[in-house]
Amino acid sequence: MASITIRQLDDDLKRHLRLRAARNGRSMEDEARTILRDAASLEAGKIEARADAHRRAAPRGRHVADAPAREAGAAHAAGTKHILLVIGGGIAAYKALDLIRRLKERGLAVRCILTKAAQEFITPLSAGALSGERVFTDLFDPGSEFDVGHIRLAREADLVVVAPTTADLMAKLAGGHADDLASAVLLATDRKVLLAPAMNPHMWQHKATQRNLARLLEDGVALVGPSAGEMAEAGEAGVGRMAEPLEIAAAALSLIGHGEGALEGRRVIVTSGPTHEPIDPVRYIANRSSGKQGHAIAAAAAAAGAHVTLVSGPVNVPDPPGVAVVKVTTAQDMLAAVTKALPADVAVFAAAVADWRIAKPQANKIKKGAGGSPKLALTENPDILATVAHDARKRPRLVIGFAAETEHIIEHAKAKLARKGCDWILANDVSAAGGAMGGERNTVHLVTAQGVESWPPQSKEEVARGLIVRIAETLAGAKR
Ligand code: C5P
Repeated sequence: MASITIRQLDDDLKRHLRLRAARNGRSMEDEARTILRDAASLEAGKIEARADAHRRAAPRGRHVADAPAREAGAAHAAGTKHILLVIGGGIAAYKALDLIRRLKERGLAVRCILTKAAQEFITPLSAGALSGERVFTDLFDPGSEFDVGHIRLAREADLVVVAPTTADLMAKLAGGHADDLASAVLLATDRKVLLAPAMNPHMWQHKATQRNLARLLEDGVALVGPSAGEMAEAGEAGVGRMAEPLEIAAAALSLIGHGEGALEGRRVIVTSGPTHEPIDPVRYIANRSSGKQGHAIAAAAAAAGAHVTLVSGPVNVPDPPGVAVVKVTTAQDMLAAVTKALPADVAVFAAAVADWRIAKPQANKIKKGAGGSPKLALTENPDILATVAHDARKRPRLVIGFAAETEHIIEHAKAKLARKGCDWILANDVSAAGGAMGGERNTVHLVTAQGVESWPPQSKEEVARGLIVRIAETLAGAKR
């Protein structure tokens, strides 16, 4: 950057500058810097005002491709969503660096604030290098105030993420404090705030922290984590670990509605829930599938703009909004409904279809009798996933299966990928310890011809959104 030498200015200018500097109690160099910054922010303000006028003048819904960037000097591409990442001071701060990468990978612009304590763990230099943007640290840094200012920092983001959120940051936010840049920005923002708490389990359990948490949730902040596990301190374990960066990124994406329209114009078929295979009019063979994962996928696909047909077995979860739901009972009905819904761009087979059905269901209730226990002859059900994956005429571009496994999860999923002829398998652990069956959370591994991607434990909605992002990328030709 070029430097200005005050000595080389002409005498009149020097005199004028000396007077202004004295009046404002600054050195002549600082006064010169201030004048330049004021001029630059005036210019930025004019650009912004012109952009606003331009936006207002544009017809509704038209994309204003040539609107100037929101911030002079920063490459804020049109449509890019902005995350303001407040990094608190805790050992989990190192994970915030990975979070910056994960957010950027997902097409988000990231600007960081580091608290004083955060700088004991990571440096502004590393956060700046990863985010590609200037990092902010001080409330009273004249550089920041003239350049961006804490109010602009607060307002320019689409979402504020605090990771790690320390007990102290929670207390400050709950109490409305504003004695440093992070807390001032959190108070000044009118955007959604996502907290990723990280602290020692005793601090998390403390009544004061739980009181602050209740207040913050009431105030409308969103929360991701903390999860249970080992702490940095030897021998300490419990709830307090910060959510994994991928989990935080997924929560951030869902809060800013990223991916809206990503499947616009696409047709998606999803199967969900169990099937019921009748034994007689009152008894049937079933399984523990709740339909939560399949329904979440249908909802996420619809939210991304797809035309979705959800073929669902008997479940107790509500129909997702904006989805055409076909309710079926047996595997044979499910196959018929899926075949009828073809063609499609994508088919996701999340249903837990019964492998066998009773060969001859009885028309009347089977009675206990002298003949002893009835012999129930079984016959194999059609494999809906394999049938569709091998349909030469109507195979969707992407056929995705699920593999519910209790052991050797990835090995079995790889074998299934080949056997069923599908493109991807989402393998999930349905052992009692995994808790996926009927539970709220799921740990999945995405198995493709290219390899295996293990996702962290997440809610079924997050798994669904993650899958939809991958589907949209693939259909757009970005990844396969
Ligand atoms: O063979 P397995 O049941 O483990 O395969 C699971 C995958 O196959 C799931 O995607 C499930 O929806 C699908 N499937 C199917 N029809 C069947 C059995 C399984 O579509 N009859």
